[in-house]
Order: sequence, then C-alpha cells, then structure tokens
Amino acid sequence: MWGRYLVVLLLALTPHAIISVKQRELETVYQWKQMVFGFPTEADRQEALANGNLVPENATPIDVATHSHPTKGSRVFTTIPRFTTGIPYTLALVSEVNESNGPVLQAYPDYSWHNSHGSDCDKITSVFRVAITECNQMFVLDSGAIGTVQHCPPQLLVFDLNTDTLFHRYRFEPSTYVAGASLFITPLAIVHDPPPKGRCRKLQVYIADVTFHGLIVYDSELNTAWRIENKFMYPDPDHGSHTIANEKFILMDGMFGLASDREQLYFHPLASVSEYAVPLSVINNRTNFMNSVDAMPQAFRHVGKRSSSCAAQAMDSQRNLYCVTFNPIMLTRWSPNKPYNVKYEIEIPADPKLIEFVSGMKVYKNDAGKEELWMLSNRFQKISSGSMDFNEVNFRILRRPLDDIQHTSVQDLSQRLIFT
Ligand SMILES: *[C@@H]1O[C@H](CO)[C@@H](O)[C@H](O)[C@H]1NC(C)=O
Ligand SMILES: *[C@@H]1O[C@H](CO)[C@@H](O)[C@H](O)[C@H]1NC(C)=O
Repeated sequence: MWGRYLVVLLLALTPHAIISVKQRELETVYQWKQMVFGFPTEADRQEALANGNLVPENATPIDVATHSHPTKGSRVFTTIPRFTTGIPYTLALVSEVNESNGPVLQAYPDYSWHNSHGSDCDKITSVFRVAITECNQMFVLDSGAIGTVQHCPPQLLVFDLNTDTLFHRYRFEPSTYVAGASLFITPLAIVHDPPPKGRCRKLQVYIADVTFHGLIVYDSELNTAWRIENKFMYPDPDHGSHTIANEKFILMDGMFGLASDREQLYFHPLASVSEYAVPLSVINNRTNFMNSVDAMPQAFRHVGKRSSSCAAQAMDSQRNLYCVTFNPIMLTRWSPNKPYNVKYEIEIPADPKLIEFVSGMKVYKNDAGKEELWMLSNRFQKISSGSMDFNEVNFRILRRPLDDIQHTSVQDLSQRLIFT
C-alpha cells in the first residue's frame, strides 16, 4: 500500500517540480574595489589615519554572515582580519551608504571594541570568521593575533543580535593552542536546543586551527574547550601550490573548511584535494581526548577527493556540501549519498570572475524559511602575488537561493517523501 501511495505522490509532484525549476543565478549583493571604513566621528578617522590604523589597501575581507531581525531588518556582516597593521576594525556591518570604492562599513558592535589593536584583551583583536545561530547569537572567533604576534589569548565572543551586546565570553586555555603558532580561523556552531522549544543552552562550536593543525571543540554546558589533532588536519605538500585565474601562489594552510549534517563533521585542509569526516559523537565526548589530543585516530575517515583545492565550505539542510574549487574555478555541490569524487562533483553554473577564492561561505535561512548560499570572494591569488589592482572590483559578497537545487531531482524528492 505504502509503495503505491509513494508512486502516486511522486507522479503528482514530479511535473510540478520540473516546471518550477527555474535555474537560479548568483547575485552580487555588495562589491568593493577597496574596503571603505566608516567612523563614528571625523576625529576618530583623523586619529586612525595619524596612528597608521587606517590603511585601506591592507584590508582583505574574508567572511560573510547574514542575519534578519524584526526591527533591525536584514544585516550583512563581514570580517577583516588583522594580517597586518592599518585595519581600523576587524568585524563590520555593511551599511547602505555607497562610496566610489564600494559600500561603507561600520564597526560592529561599535568602534570602541576594536580600537585597542591588541593592547586590551577585553576588546577584539582580530577576527577571521563568525558563526550566527538560530538563537540570534553571533559567535565571533577572535584569534588574539595581529600578523604573527599573539597579543591576547584567542577568545570566543557571543553577541546577542537583538541587543548588539556581549552575552558571553570564553577565553581559550593554553592547553588548546600554541601562542604564535596556532591560528583559530573558522567557527562552526551547532545548537542542540534551538527555539521555539529549546532555550539555546546546549551547543558546540567547532574551531579550525589552520597553522598548528588542530580542531578545538567548545561545549557551552561545560563552558570549556578541548583540542583534537589528527593527520588529516595537515596540509598536503603535493597540493600547496595553487592556481586561480592563471595566477600561481603557494599557500600551505592546514585545517580550514568545516561543515556538518549534525552527525558528522566534514573538514579539509586548504592545501589538499581531500575531504575528511569524523562523527560528532566522538569529538563531542571530552573524555576521549583527556589523555591525548590525537586519540581515536580510527574514527577519522577519508571521504574522497575533489578536482582541486577549495577554501570555505558549507552544508545545507539537505546535506548538500558546497565549495568553490580553485582550478578550474567552479561552484561545486556534493551529496553525501554519493561517493566523493570528481564524477559526483556537480558544477553549479556561476561566472568564475565572481568567485575567485571564496574564503567565506554560509547557508542562510531567510525570513520565508528558504535557504540561500552566501559567499565572500577576495581574489586571494592577487593579494598573494602582489598584483592587486584597486581600479578593479576585488571583493564581492554573493548570494544564491538554493530552492532550485533542493527541489530538482526526482531522487531527492523521493528521499524526502520517504523520510518525512
Ligand atoms: C548602493 O549601490 C548598490 C549597487 O552597488 C545599489 O544597489 C544601492 O541601491 C546603492 N545604495 C544607495 C543608498 O544608493
Ligand atoms: C565518552 O567516552 C568514554 C571513553 O573515552 C566512554 O566511556 C563514555 O561512555 C563516553 N560518553 C558518552 C556520553 O558517550
């Protein structure tokens, strides 16, 4: 009976699904030739200029995060890590005010949080990426370092996006990082008790240590974090040279991109063409790693190989994993129901010029409950080789609805019917 019912449902839904599939396009939401920093007052700007804290050509945005609030509206955030001096603030809101180089940024939550440049560890030193949860909270991962100098311990700051105030701060213990050698760059937050039923008290944040090759797990209930290491977190020297749009550069970054379907943590080093995974149940259990950071090696799995390296990655609620490969430049999708290899690396049509080095990627659920892929591209190959031209558009924030992808194939639809 059930089998027949399923067939009828499929027949009823399939033509509709095919008719409604209009291929979505990548939309440029914001773009910059060079980053444009707004200040609370003209005096603040003049002071930043005089102190060498405003050098826009030093600024590279790397992450994007979106949030929608009933009264504050839609807000888009970006991060500008302090790779060097001249960065007036490292976490920003994109405003609707335009200048010739692009939209004007505003410091988030405000300028006073950023203006200590490593001299006050209660403030923000340098942010690579953030994670926004369904609890209206933004997890800001502060590396504590400017360039290679570790000014402050790395910390996780949780801002309440309803009030734009600090909700919680966690400073990482020395057992979880090596000052000057570690660099915490990517947070991925998973909430176990989301609203409306839950109270947002149980969550984990997974953190990539890109230069000392590790994974840090922060547990909100224990308010503690532990370090995990595994050989799969190391860069692969065979994949340390990259080419993007015919420009070559060397980047031996390790542990970099994180994504999860709430069962597995998927991860990859940047200098690698491999994707790896480990069950959350293993890494969430602190006891497993009490005596040794590299315990449980058998739990880590090589998932497969893609066509070339990619940086940031994200996964949607249907377990599609997205990443933009370097050479050729392709927005790719992979479904964990398939083997991870070049054959099942599905290309999503996108203008390669828009997606040269996607360093930030998020799946965002909009007000209508539909998922969208948000990306930030920054042409890192040009920064690396010193060929940046600030007369060209260099930095972009992009959006692509996912409804066409999430409803196209009959197979996906049948699986949804069976499992719902
Ligand atoms: C700023 O520029 C963007 C396009 O780059 C445009 O969509 C937007 O309306 C502009 N905003 C204002 C306030 O002029
Ligand atoms: C955590 O791991 C330890 C072994 O390392 C095991 O004894 C314990 O049952 C695990 N806890 C949970 C909740 O799975």
